[in-house]
Amino acid sequence: MLVVRGLYAFSLLATAGPGHLLIPQQPDAELISMLKQIDPNRMKATVEKLVSFGTRHALSNQTDPVRGIGAARDWIAAQMRTYAAASNGRMVVTVPSYVQQPSSRIPNATVISNIVATLTGSKEPNRVYVISGHYDSRVTDILNFDADSPGADDDASGVAISMELARIMATHQPAATIMFAVVAGEEQGLFGSNFMATTLKQNGVDVQGMLDNDIVGSPKGDDGTIDQFDIRMFVSGLPPSNTANQNLQLASIGGENDSPAHQLGRFVAEVSQNAVTQMNVRAIYRPDRFLRGGDHLSFLSQGFPAVRFTEPHEDFKHQHQDTRVVDGTQFGDLIDFVDFDFTARVAKVNGAALWSLAQAPGTPKGAVVDVSTLTNNSTLMWVADPHADAGYEVVWRETDKPQWARVIPVGQVNTVNVKLSKDNVQMGIRAVGKNGFRSPAAFPVPG
Ligand SMILES: *[C@@H]1O[C@H](CO)[C@@H](O)[C@H](O)[C@H]1NC(C)=O
Ligand SMILES: *[C@@H]1O[C@H](CO)[C@@H](O)[C@H](O)[C@H]1NC(C)=O
Ligand SMILES: *[C@@H]1O[C@H](CO)[C@@H](O)[C@H](O)[C@H]1NC(C)=O
Ligand SMILES: *[C@@H]1O[C@H](CO)[C@@H](O)[C@H](O)[C@H]1NC(C)=O
Ligand SMILES: [Zn+2]
Repeated sequence: MLVVRGLYAFSLLATAGPGHLLIPQQPDAELISMLKQIDPNRMKATVEKLVSFGTRHALSNQTDPVRGIGAARDWIAAQMRTYAAASNGRMVVTVPSYVQQPSSRIPNATVISNIVATLTGSKEPNRVYVISGHYDSRVTDILNFDADSPGADDDASGVAISMELARIMATHQPAATIMFAVVAGEEQGLFGSNFMATTLKQNGVDVQGMLDNDIVGSPKGDDGTIDQFDIRMFVSGLPPSNTANQNLQLASIGGENDSPAHQLGRFVAEVSQNAVTQMNVRAIYRPDRFLRGGDHLSFLSQGFPAVRFTEPHEDFKHQHQDTRVVDGTQFGDLIDFVDFDFTARVAKVNGAALWSLAQAPGTPKGAVVDVSTLTNNSTLMWVADPHADAGYEVVWRETDKPQWARVIPVGQVNTVNVKLSKDNVQMGIRAVGKNGFRSPAAFPVPG
């Protein structure tokens, strides 16, 4: 009886109202072919190589050719350059660096170096999507730069995803720019990602999405649970870059779950859960796990939408630990605990999202909802974008639902009146390309 009632309520809510049901965007032939090239064995070889540098601690040796973070940096850059060589000049690899002055986790001034492979967009080079993992590693003592620190899961697994997608996408031509990033200094204080995000902000780059992969190597929990087809996606609510007044306004209209990060998360969930990836994306509405952080926070702080992927369960015996055996139990972030078929599926989720973002028109800018009079319909306005060459769609959902449910095609306009009460539902506006790709939605604020 309960089940029947639940189904009845669902069908009423899911089908009533203007527009048609939203059918999730599916990967096109080019994207499917790229996702099929994702190779667990290559990703394993990447993680094995990263582990072979002994430690990649931020304070470890930067000039030794065999051991330490410098050797890892040079190997990652050299690999990325081999991928760029196949790109016909579209992909360029840089190693942006700066000197981090002493802080609580950096006793002496230290050079922090990122590796960034930039695949320039053919239509909108200044619209950018970033995918990132961090290559620094740590053990129990955050300042211990001598001990072996394999960092296989945290975060060679995330590095392997940035690198594998760079390899495959280098020979393709996205409409917008993709930056395949491998950053340093995460464990010491998100230093590399903060340097990257602040530099992009200072240079006026239009970063419309950042995907952070950190600890994406294992589907197993410490109690034996295995969820091979699940990945967690942490999605932040009220943007840390907002002023207090902006957040008050957002909260006053029930917009806590409609931040730009939420719209990015909704988009990822729409385009990446399908037969090609085989994955379920479990969105979690908080910036990160309790007491933890990651490189997506650096991008959120600059006002860029960003989400974090992390494996479905974490085994804390394998993170931030000295490699050792205690009473027969192995501690440490060893490669034996990484499942490369799982990491390859997480790469597919990222690849589907990244490519769909870069091929769609950008997220509409300046979206507002008219609040000048009390009405039971809604007038939405936004800035017209010539790249939205197949027009726009209004998407909407009940306020307590996670995903957009219905679509109202509205054509080549930048203002529309829809017979939907803004008091009762959440609405968004998304851009449509002639190639069929749809952008993430923009959430209109009172204006
Ligand atoms: C780093 O390694 C190089 C080459 O082995 C060595 O000459 C140098 O002294 C090392 N630096 C530090 C700070 O240990
Ligand atoms: C920092 O520099 C001091 C000397 O200025 C040196 O004694 C110390 O070993 C250095 N610490 C690290 C972690 O390199
Ligand atoms: C929207 O509501 C206003 C005020 O009630 C009304 O004047 C207008 O005709 C309505 N528009 C549509 C398209 O229903
Ligand atoms: C409410 O909407 C309906 C149609 O959607 C319209 O006929 C009616 O006039 C509206 N009422 C007010 C008070 O605007
Ligand atoms: Zn990490």
